[in-house]
Amino acid sequence: MYRIILIFIVFVPAYDANLCGCKSMRKCYVDMLNILKDKDEEACVENVATGAGTVMIFLKALKQYCPEVVKVEEKYVTYEGRHLYEVIVTNNTAKHVDDDTKPVILIEAGQLAGSESTNLVLVLIQQLAACIEYEDMIEKVKWVILPCTNPDGLEYTRYNRVQWKKNLKPSDDQMNHGVDLSRNFDHQWSACKKRGNSFSPQYPGLSPFSENETRFVRDVMNRYKNQARAYISVRKNGHSLLFPYAYTKVKVDDEAQYKKVAEKIVEKINQRAGIIQLFSSESIFSMNGKAHCGHSVDYAFDLGIPNSFEMRVFLGSETEVVTKFQSLPRGYHNSLLLGYLSGFKKLYEIITTDKSKNAHF
Ligand SMILES: *[C@@H]1O[C@H](CO)[C@@H](O)[C@H](O)[C@H]1NC(C)=O
Repeated sequence: MYRIILIFIVFVPAYDANLCGCKSMRKCYVDMLNILKDKDEEACVENVATGAGTVMIFLKALKQYCPEVVKVEEKYVTYEGRHLYEVIVTNNTAKHVDDDTKPVILIEAGQLAGSESTNLVLVLIQQLAACIEYEDMIEKVKWVILPCTNPDGLEYTRYNRVQWKKNLKPSDDQMNHGVDLSRNFDHQWSACKKRGNSFSPQYPGLSPFSENETRFVRDVMNRYKNQARAYISVRKNGHSLLFPYAYTKVKVDDEAQYKKVAEKIVEKINQRAGIIQLFSSESIFSMNGKAHCGHSVDYAFDLGIPNSFEMRVFLGSETEVVTKFQSLPRGYHNSLLLGYLSGFKKLYEIITTDKSKNAHF
C-alpha cells in the first residue's frame, strides 16, 4: 500500500492542466510552469507567438529552473543589441558519462529570419528538458542548440510583414542594410557571381564572417567540431532535408551515406506528419538548381562534421509547394511539428547506434 502511494506521488505532477506534450514531466519544469502560470504566461512554447522576446524569457526561465539539464551562453550580440544564445541540453548525472567525449548534435535555427524554425527548436528544447521519457536522449548526447541566429531579422519580419531574410546591419554608406547570413560563411565565399550592393536580398557581405551572427555560429562549430556528430541548419519555407554541397553540383565523396541517413529521417518525418510526402533528400545545390556560396552546411562539412544538413521546415509562402496545399486542414501545423520532432529523434537514434566513431557516419 505504502509503495503504491509513493508511485502515485512521484508520477502525477502538481501541474496537471497541460504537460506540453510530455508523458511525464521533470520536477524542475513543473515548478517553472506553475510560476509562469501564476504570471498568466502561456505554458508551452508551441502555443506562443515566437519573437526575440519569447526566446529570451523562455531561456531565462529554463536556466533558472532547470540548471541541471540546461545551460545558456550569450557571448555575442547583434547590431540591434539582441543576444545570440547557445543552449546546451544534457544530463551528466549518470556517473559514467564523460562530458568531453559525449557526442554532440548541433542544431541552429533562424538564419533566414522568420519565426517558424526558431519556434520548432524551442519546442525541441522544451521536450528534451521537460519530458522524462526523453531522458536517454540527453544522457547519451549533448544537444547544442542555437535557437535564433538572426533575431534582428526575426523581429523585422514580425512587424513589417515583408519577405526578409537578411540581418539588419547598415551598409557602410548607410544607404541600405542587411547581409544574407546564409551566404556569409567562409566556404567558397567568392565563387558565386558577385552581388556587390547591399540592396540585393542575397548580399553576402563585404567579406566572409563579416557579421557577428555568422562569427557566432562559426565559433560554436569550431568549439565542438571534434565531438559533433551532426549539424542541422533549420530554415523557414520548404519541407526538405538537404545535404552538401550548396556551392557546386559536384557530389561529396560520401553522398551514398548522406542519402541513406537523410532517407531514414525523411521516412520518419513523413510517417508522422502524414498528409503530404514532399520531404526530399538531395543536395542543396540540386534543390536550388544553382550555386549557393558561403553556406554554413558546406562550412560544417569541410570542418569534418558528419551529418551536416540544411533542413527546411513548414511550407512558407515563398515556395511553389504551398499553392498546391492551400486548403490544408487546421491542425496541420501541429502534424508537421510532430513530424519534424520525430525526425530529430531519428537522427539521435542513428547517431547513438553508430559504432564507427571515426568514420564520417
Ligand atoms: C557585434 O556587433 C556590435 C555592433 O555591430 C558590436 O558593438 C559588438 O561588440 C560586436 N561583437 C560581439 C562579440 O558581440
